[in-house]
Amino acid sequence: MYVCNCAGITERDIHDAVDRGARSVKDLRRELNVAADCCQCACDVKRCLRERKALIEQVDLSNLSHLGKFSDLGLPA
Ligand code: FES
Repeated sequence: MYVCNCAGITERDIHDAVDRGARSVKDLRRELNVAADCCQCACDVKRCLRERKALIEQVDLSNLSHLGKFSDLGLPA
């Protein structure tokens, strides 16, 4: 689904850019030229960015679960 019609950018394009390290609308604008013309897509761009970052954060946290508790590592709780 297209998010930015001016630049022809899809939700997938934004997700891929976030996966490569984009963390702000400014990053996405620099990389994809999204939200750089009429800006009618700004809210949808922010939503895509926020959702993808949340998903990445969830995956990162679940990847740490195998480490156990901080106290198991000898670190202060
Ligand atoms: S729809 Fe994205 S800049 Fe116009």
